[in-house]
Parts: sequence; structure tokens; C-alpha cells
Amino acid sequence: MEKEIISLQLAHLLGESFKQKDIYDQLEKPKYKDHGDVAFPCFSLAKHLRTNPKQIAEDLSSKLDHPILSKSEAVHGYVNIFLDQDFMTEHILSRVLTEGYGSHSFGRGENVVIDLSAPNIAKPFSMGHLRSTVIGNSLANLAETCGYTPVKINYIGDYGTQFGHLLAAYKKWGDAEAVRQAPLKELSEIYVRFHHESESDPSLIEEGREWFKRLEQGDEEALALWKWFRELSLEKFQDIYDQLDVSFDLTRGESYYSDKMETTISLLESKGLLEESDGALVVKLDEFDLPPCLIVKSNGTTTYATRDVTAAIDRYQSYSFSKSLYVVGNEQTLHFQQIRRVLEKAGFAWANDMYHVSFGMMLQDGKKMSTRKGRTILLEDVLKEAGNRAGDNKIGTGAVLFHDLKHYRQNDVEFSLEDMLTFEGITGPYLQYTYARALSLLNKTSFEKKTGLSDPGAWELVKQLHAFPDETARAFHEFDPSIVARYLLGLAKYFNQYYAGTKILQEDQLDERLTLVYGVTLVLKEGLGILGIEAVEEM
Ligand code: ARG
Repeated sequence: MEKEIISLQLAHLLGESFKQKDIYDQLEKPKYKDHGDVAFPCFSLAKHLRTNPKQIAEDLSSKLDHPILSKSEAVHGYVNIFLDQDFMTEHILSRVLTEGYGSHSFGRGENVVIDLSAPNIAKPFSMGHLRSTVIGNSLANLAETCGYTPVKINYIGDYGTQFGHLLAAYKKWGDAEAVRQAPLKELSEIYVRFHHESESDPSLIEEGREWFKRLEQGDEEALALWKWFRELSLEKFQDIYDQLDVSFDLTRGESYYSDKMETTISLLESKGLLEESDGALVVKLDEFDLPPCLIVKSNGTTTYATRDVTAAIDRYQSYSFSKSLYVVGNEQTLHFQQIRRVLEKAGFAWANDMYHVSFGMMLQDGKKMSTRKGRTILLEDVLKEAGNRAGDNKIGTGAVLFHDLKHYRQNDVEFSLEDMLTFEGITGPYLQYTYARALSLLNKTSFEKKTGLSDPGAWELVKQLHAFPDETARAFHEFDPSIVARYLLGLAKYFNQYYAGTKILQEDQLDERLTLVYGVTLVLKEGLGILGIEAVEEM
């Protein structure tokens, strides 16, 4: 609100030729507290007017005047603006107390489809899938906060050549009882063994390919085994989703498209996009500097890409999305570029509304975790251990989620239980602790909600509360929940500073101070909720 008013005032002072919107976009948040609350840099303006910035800054600051401003100063070509703290505090706190604070309506109910989690059956649920699950779930929450209708789809990896390998491996070394006991462990072990042995015995790969072919052709034995593996795996995954408290609008795996790819292939054919290359069918993407997208392999089988192209069309037909997000690790960047270009070439304008929301890897001692090489940390074990160490499952799970979400999503994340669980510094438990601390203040005495706080020591905290709606919008626009995570860390920091420097429970303005504390609890809870973390009342 203050930025609207200031830009309007400045535009008025500068005359018709300067648009309010441009001025608005140039307003900055000063780095230092004693430089005020909002700054307007005069450099590009000075260039335009062919004068010097210092002079314009002085001129503007002497004329700027509005009830929400207490003063403005010209410093090194900037107009540094100080807001009237009492006026703003009143305004901000009453907004914070309003239902739906932090949410927006710009999504206008449009559908945002989110492809998230997508673990592969017969393999353990990896830390990479955890990242996709928690980032995707938080983006769905953000979409909702911004007024969209999120549609969460779990695109299970339940099809493709690797299941041929698994079937071959099971036929050789599988033990039904062991699979029943610990499905993901047993199946991934024989899968790892298969890859290990195929290094010295390439005929195994050929056998695997044969099994996949049988699966695609609907061979009974292949199909029955595959279904069994799938069911056992989905049950195991459900345990994890229950623990994370994540649900999906649709669980629809790659196999759903096994009999629908024919249509896609004919469509690409009819548009003249399919070309033969060494017996395979591809869509060439030379004009985009991308390698060809493989649609049908030389042995007649389809690919991961064929299924994704088919699924994308299906999603548009079902949901006419305004955005379609794929929350998938950045090692699949090329794949998603190809998919999008193939759809664009096929004439689908909505291909432009597809976004690969990529993220970095979870590292263990600086190295990538890999199922094939047997280097994985099991999420189940992590959640159990985190719960034990935190003494509470919710706090433990929240700690794991927050650790993941606080990093800018593109960065790799080093896995560390110690880092996740410390109560100081930048962790989930620290936020939970701050929340519980604020609640306990509120429980000490009854109070009446009053927003007229006059306390210079509260200003940084009040401004941080004020920033919440802008941060939720930005987090959605950048598809990055870490913006909310870092915002909450800032909020907790300012709250704890305020708490350390002020006797909150003193008589004078008791209601007003507790109203501020109450506002902090509302925003902390809401923000944690966006991250998919439940705020715990007591610690
Ligand atoms: N199952 C895949 C994997 O684990 C991820 C699938 C991502 N989604 C998609 N539409 N391709 O690598």
C-alpha cells in the first residue's frame, strides 16, 4: 500500500511524462535501517532529464508529503523515505488480523496442474522423490493461496524398459516370500544385482528387453507379476504420504498411457513430425538446438518421452490448465525441453504454459545418491530417526521438510540430520519453538485485540508481517517455496529480537503488544502450513 501511495505522489510531482508503474517498480527496500523504509533511486530519472541525481533527490524529498510519511531525506541520489510508524502499524496489524491475510485472488480459480512425487515402483522412495513431493505440495498450497485451483498428480513410474529388467531379475533370483516381507528392499536388491551382473553379461539386458516387450504385449505372466509389484509398492508409498500428510487429486502412473500412445504416435505422424532414424521414429528438434526426441524405439517399444507427451495432452483435455508444472530434478531438464517442443511443433499453444520446476540433488557426503549403485538413504528411516531425536514425530517430520524447503530449489542439498534438528539457527524446530513461545505468551493472560501499538522497538517486526502477502505471491511466481521458508526465518528472528528487547507483559499497551504477538502466531502458522508443516502448539 505504501508503495502505491509513494509512487503516486512521485508521479504527481514529476508530471505526466513519468508513469506511476515505472516509479513503483523502481522503489527499493534500503539495506540499512537508518536509510528509512522505502528508497527511490534517482539515477535513471536523472539520465532521462539530463540533470544530476543528487539534485532531483533533493527536490523530490523536499516536496514529498503524505500522512503515511514521517519524513524523507536525499542521500547520494536516493530519496530515503521514512513511514509514519504509528499510522502504518495500525493499518498493518488490522490487515494481519483479517481472515485470509497473505492470500490473493489473482489466480481466478484457474487450474494449475502439478506433477509431483512420482516415485518408481519396486524401488525405495528416494530423497529426490521427497524433494519433489514437498516442493510440489508446497507449490500446490501456494497456488491455492494465490486463488488458483491446484490439481496434484502423482505420476507413478510404473512402466518402461526397467520393468523388463526387473521381471528378468525376478525370474532369475526372485523369492516371493522375501518380496512379500519387504517389497521395495527385495525388489531393488535384485534390480541392483541385475545391473551389476549385466556389466559382465550383456545378454541379461537382452532378456530384460524381451520381458518388457512381453509386458507391452499383455503377456499374462509378465502382467501379473508387474501388477503385484505395483500394488505392494503403492502400499509402501502410502505409508510415507501418510507420514508427510500429503495427498493427491489423482494417482495416475505411466502405465495408464500404455494403450493411449498409439493416438499420440498417429497424431505426430499426421502432422508430418515423425522421421525414421536407424529404425526408430523420432521428432527432430534441430531448430531448437536439441537432440531428436525418441518416440518409438527400433524394437517397436515406446519411451518415457512418448508417455509424457501423451500425458500432457490428456492433462490439458481434462483440466484446461492455465499452468502445468513438473516438479522434477534438474537432471531431466533436457527431457522436459524436448517434450515441450514436440507439443509446440504439434500445434498445441498451451505447450507454453508447461514449466519444468527443476530442483537440485540431495547429496550424501557431497555425492549423488543412487539406487542402482545401492547408495541411498531410506526416507522411512530418516523420518523415524528425526522423530526419535526430536522427541515428537510431527516436529521431526517438519524438520525434514523445512530442511528441504529452505534451500533455493535449484541448489543441491547436503543431507544432514544434525542440521535439520538443531533448535538454533535456520531450522524447522527453531520456527516451531518460536511459535510455541509466542503462544505461551498469549496464554499467560487474557487480552483484547487492539491494533494501535506505538512502539518503535516493534517496527522491524511489524514491517516483516507486512511483507507476507508480497512474499507468498513472489514464491508462487518463482515457483519457489524457499521464499516463504526464508521469510518465516526472518519473522522468527525479528520476533525473538523483539521478545529479547521488550517486556511484552508490562502494563503499558499490554493489549496492543499481545495483539502483535497474536499476529505473529497467525502468520507463522499460515506460512508453515504453506510449506506443508503443521505448527505444534507446545514444545
Ligand atoms: N518417475 C520419474 C523418476 O523418478 C519422475 C517422473 C516425473 N514426471 C514426469 N511427468 N515425467 O525419475
